[in-house]
Formats: sequence, structure tokens, C-alpha cells
Amino acid sequence: MKRFFSVNDITDLQATIKEAIALKKAPQQNIHLGKGKTIGLVFLNSSLRTRLSTQKAAHNLGLYTILLNAAQEAWTWEYEDGAIMNGNTVEHVKDAANVLSQYCDIIGIRCFAGLTNKEDDVSEKVYKLFEKYAKVPVISLESATLHPLQSLADCITIEENLPKDKKPKVVLTWAPHIKPIPQAVGNSFAQWMNASDYEFVITHPEGYELDTEFTKEATIEYNQEKALENADFVYVKNWSSFKNYGKLVPVEEDWLLTNEKLKGSNNAKIMHCLPVRRNVEISDEVLDSENSLVYQQAYNRTFAAQIVIQKILENNE
Ligand code: CP
Repeated sequence: MKRFFSVNDITDLQATIKEAIALKKAPQQNIHLGKGKTIGLVFLNSSLRTRLSTQKAAHNLGLYTILLNAAQEAWTWEYEDGAIMNGNTVEHVKDAANVLSQYCDIIGIRCFAGLTNKEDDVSEKVYKLFEKYAKVPVISLESATLHPLQSLADCITIEENLPKDKKPKVVLTWAPHIKPIPQAVGNSFAQWMNASDYEFVITHPEGYELDTEFTKEATIEYNQEKALENADFVYVKNWSSFKNYGKLVPVEEDWLLTNEKLKGSNNAKIMHCLPVRRNVEISDEVLDSENSLVYQQAYNRTFAAQIVIQKILENNE
């Protein structure tokens, strides 16, 4: 593997999931791979899980880690080619990526959608520019449109909880939120589910359709109760409107996920990438139930990151 931006960078998804699960038995089995090497983790946005699980994964592989909270601690980046930098931007992304590449053998970067310029977000302007100028392999720690390490951890978690003798029904349900949130987790989950052999349904209010680039052939059901019928896994996530880009479209019905809503499901397991707004997106009773997989998902973030970094190190040996 030379880069990790989306499911398309995985050659064999099922085999990769199994390899990640195998790492859990002896997390430091490949600690020799990263000896003497450095991974840089650059965050233009906040993080708890991605930051710490990727560091832990890197340490399991013997890598030294450098962390840069770029939004708070570094110079403000410029992204325009040929810009006359006499304004608020201090360092061109070209220079930052080049210099970081001298210190690191691999770089991970988190750069959320700004939700103000659809064209910039859809084209992954920030991520693509950073990758273009970096001289080492780049890993997405969540970009404007996708969150692949989360999705790989989600696939690992589903694999570990598959129902016996049955193709699972997986439902991605929109949830309420107090402010506009990027579509990256929903897009990414849809992309990885479409690459898996599951029955996959997406449910959301009208106006919250995700980019068909990622949802492709997934079934879209606007009635949440109907969508949840016989569900084995319910993945809960908010996202802002893609059509009315970055906006909160008013919703009449109550989309908070409660036990009542899950009555028609197949004793569904509940998933969320975290952080979660308790009792806004999912009720406490659901989150704290024995069917909740949210902490298992967070735990699996380490092994998702580890298998990806491992494959990049193996490629560069
Ligand atoms: N799920 C996830 O990416 O969590 P963080 O934003 O805390 O990294």
C-alpha cells in the first residue's frame, strides 16, 4: 500500500479485516517493522480517538510519533498556487508538506470539510494538495468527504459480531445534531458497506441525501421505522445537507434513536463513531445497553490504523 485515502486503497477488504483481527492477539508481533522510522500526525481539527489510536498503532509497530496540532500550533497554511501571501496565511501547504516529509517516513493528516465551499470540499482540495506536495506516503485521518480508518474499524467490529448463518442487514440512520456536521463518516461508511457483502440501507429525512458518489446502489428509505425493521446493525450518525450544502434542513419527525425505535429490529447492535451527543443522537438507554458496540469500535480503531501503517511499511521495506 502506498497511500490510504479510501476503500479503493485496500486490495482485499475481507483479508485486511482478518489480518487486523489477528493483530489483536499479539499487538506487537511486528514491532520490528517501524524501528528507526517516524510517523507524523497532523491535525487541522480536533480528535480524541484518531489521534490516540493511531499513535498506539504506531508504537505497536515500533515507530516514533510526531504530533502536530496544526490549527493551534503551526503557521496558518495557504492553499492557492501563486498566492501573494501578504494576508493572514503564513506558510504555503507546499512548503509545510515538503518540510514535514523530511522529518517523517509516513504522514497522517486530518482535514475536515469546511462546509462553506462545496467545490473545495468535494474535490478534497486540502487533502489532495497536501498529498501532492508530500514526499512520503500519506494516510487520511479523516478528510473532507471520507473517514477511512473509522470505516475499517467499523468493518472489523461488524465482522466480530456477525449473526450466525445470515447475511446481516446494516442500516445507516441519520440522527439529529445541534450544528452542521460534515458528511465524511456517513459517506465513508456507505462506501465500505458497498464494498462488503451485506444488505445495506440508509435512512434519513428528505434533504439529507448523501453524495451518490459514495452511496451508489444502497437502498435509501425515508421512513426510519421501516428501515430499522429486521436490522442486525444500526449505525447512527448525523450529517448536514449535501444538496443544501452544509446547512441544517428543518426536520419535523423525531430521529433520536431510542429502544422504542428498535423494537422492530433483529435485536440490533448499535454503532456510532463517537463522539456522540447523548440524548440528541442516541438515548442513554441505547448507548449504555449490552447491544451497544461503540466502545468496541473505538478499540478497533487501533488495529485498523495498525494494519494500514503495517501495509505501508511493508511496501516501503
Ligand atoms: N471517531 C473519531 O474519529 O473520533 P475522533 O474525532 O475523536 O478522532
